[in-house]
Amino acid sequence: MSKGLFRKKSIEQLVAATRGEKTLRRDLGAFDLTMLGIGAIIGTGIFVLTGTGAVTAGPGLVISFVIAGLACLFAALAYAEFASTVPVSGSVYTFTYATMGELLAFIIGWDLILEYMLAASAVSAGWSGYFVSFLNGLGIHIPLELTAAPGALKDQSTYFNLPAFVILMGITLLLYFGIRESKRINNIMVVVKIIVILLFIIVAVKYVKPAHWTPFLPFGFSGVFGAAALVFFAFIGFDAVSSAAEETKNPARDLPRGIIFSLVICTLLYVIVSGIMTGIVPFMDFEGISHPVSLVLQVAGQNWVAGIVDIGAILGMTTVMLVMLYGQTRIMFAMSRDGLVPKVLSKVHPKYKTPYINTLFFGTLSALMGGLIPLDELASLVNIGTLSAFILISVAVIVMRKTQPNLPRAFRCPGVPYIPILAIISCAVLILNLNSQTFIRFIIWLVIGLVVYFLYSRKNSLLNHDHEK
Ligand code: ALA
Repeated sequence: MSKGLFRKKSIEQLVAATRGEKTLRRDLGAFDLTMLGIGAIIGTGIFVLTGTGAVTAGPGLVISFVIAGLACLFAALAYAEFASTVPVSGSVYTFTYATMGELLAFIIGWDLILEYMLAASAVSAGWSGYFVSFLNGLGIHIPLELTAAPGALKDQSTYFNLPAFVILMGITLLLYFGIRESKRINNIMVVVKIIVILLFIIVAVKYVKPAHWTPFLPFGFSGVFGAAALVFFAFIGFDAVSSAAEETKNPARDLPRGIIFSLVICTLLYVIVSGIMTGIVPFMDFEGISHPVSLVLQVAGQNWVAGIVDIGAILGMTTVMLVMLYGQTRIMFAMSRDGLVPKVLSKVHPKYKTPYINTLFFGTLSALMGGLIPLDELASLVNIGTLSAFILISVAVIVMRKTQPNLPRAFRCPGVPYIPILAIISCAVLILNLNSQTFIRFIIWLVIGLVVYFLYSRKNSLLNHDHEK
């Protein structure tokens, strides 16, 4: 029975698979990857969750960001080693296949659906909030029932988050037509997003009153860790860079750079922005606020800058959805090419060279989730799915150093096994700060995955066929 569960692809097989008929176009460099990373990282986390984070931790939110950022940095170093060694599509799923065998690879691919697809859905809900308020400012009003998922608002019945659905369907079409076009649009939006955040910092910093930073830890370290588990969402996305390996010109050099640069830049921005926010608005005043960054500017009397920040937030969250959905389709592409999910998901469009059926399928599913499930529920599942993936990849880097010590690695994670162990511990601590309902949902999701694996994937796996030949 256990035979085959641990069957592995060799690194050579993985790389060879990228040279066959089902190949993607290689046109990304280190700069594009950093942009892809920043595009994925800065979004709902900074524009929406900083408010809830401030209420949970007080001004000590800056420490929460450092804790969550450090957990990601440790995991990022492990990611970077794999990404530079196994430069094929599918991110951590592919790396796990090469190191720990098929069953775990499947589980992690399944797990990553929680990260990528649901993150796109979650961010679409955050995007919708800013977009609706932007439209309201222009005097255009969408019926309230169509602006949020059922059960999302306490005192108001809502049916469907229409703006969330529409934006994700638009992004699905962009991805359908190809990464070249999507990349250009992504790069422009990322630049706008960074300019808007720098503008916030420059304009707002002079209104900081250090008195607001006292008490610094009103809820002690439990508040700080609680907020860290929440704002961890703000860092999700840097690993999406590694899912673009197969479309990168020089993956061995550029992938680690793209991951680390984008993570360090974002951590710095988060710490500065959240420090300024709690230095201007007393932390309790963020309760129930869905646009905390622009609120700070309004309090400072900078209304027109607040309007610009709103537009930046809308664009910023758009790029996050783009990268998340892109990552999702590429992981499924890799799993399909391996036979673990139906073949139709790795069919490449003859003209656009994109996995078009896969893109339409997951794009539509993600859009429906964004329309039907409230942001909080989506975000907590995204966090647990991602933290588990980070733990697995950190284990994998240690395993691979033992099983494949001589494999050429363009980038070596420093301090193995200590850095990966630190990643495992810090991700586990963050998981322990999530609620029990999230745990239960996560377990149910994994059980469904195992059923799929044993009823479908195991039989249809390409490695199973290789075995029969
Ligand atoms: N890190 C992404 C965001 O903050 C998911 O929106």
